[in-house]
Amino acid sequence: MPSSATRVRSSREGVVRASRLVAKPRARSAEGAGGAAGTASHAGPQACFPKLAPLIAYLQGLKGRADLKVLDGMLKGLKLTRADIEKACVFGVSGYRRNTIASNAHFELLALTWRSGHCTPIHDHTGVSCAFRVVEGTGTEVRFVKTPCGLACPVGSTPMPPGYVCSAEENDIHQVANHQGPGKDLVTLHIYSPRIKKMKTYEFRVSLGAEGCDSYRRNGKPGKGR
Ligand SMILES: [Fe+2]
Repeated sequence: MPSSATRVRSSREGVVRASRLVAKPRARSAEGAGGAAGTASHAGPQACFPKLAPLIAYLQGLKGRADLKVLDGMLKGLKLTRADIEKACVFGVSGYRRNTIASNAHFELLALTWRSGHCTPIHDHTGVSCAFRVVEGTGTEVRFVKTPCGLACPVGSTPMPPGYVCSAEENDIHQVANHQGPGKDLVTLHIYSPRIKKMKTYEFRVSLGAEGCDSYRRNGKPGKGR
């Protein structure tokens, strides 16, 4: 997959820089993006996932971008366990997986599955209403803000237990992760409206070290200028 990420040339620990707004069709570390893993059925998504039938009916009736507050309210009103969407809970190996439950041009409803350590790229939500509910496990949302120098800085993290609903505003920058220990899965139910075609992602700036300093070590070895 081609990347337009900008290489960073100076050191700034603890900050990230917009990587020339890497425009990619989907999060780089996600598997199964756009796929209908585990949901194949001639019965349709409402029959496969009856607990989601009212939500799917609403989404299928959209004529344009959904209102974020409406999505937030509908997700908060769900009573949902992993068993209710088990058919869509296919896990990735190298990264989290996006499993499509239902979609059209105006929305996509996905079950995202995460093993311990899986995480999204740092990203924003330009042009897309995004809301999700934690179904199983505890997720972590790390938030970032843009700074006057053009970098983005982490400003905090929020643990997201089962039932937690996260709604991301247009310019919110965040990363979602499963920081739980090995063997502890995370399952989340996501709505995007319209479907994501491109996502703006950000990367941590790579430090080349301080000038005039030879006391830092890299990988245990002395490094001039580190
Ligand atoms: Fe997001």
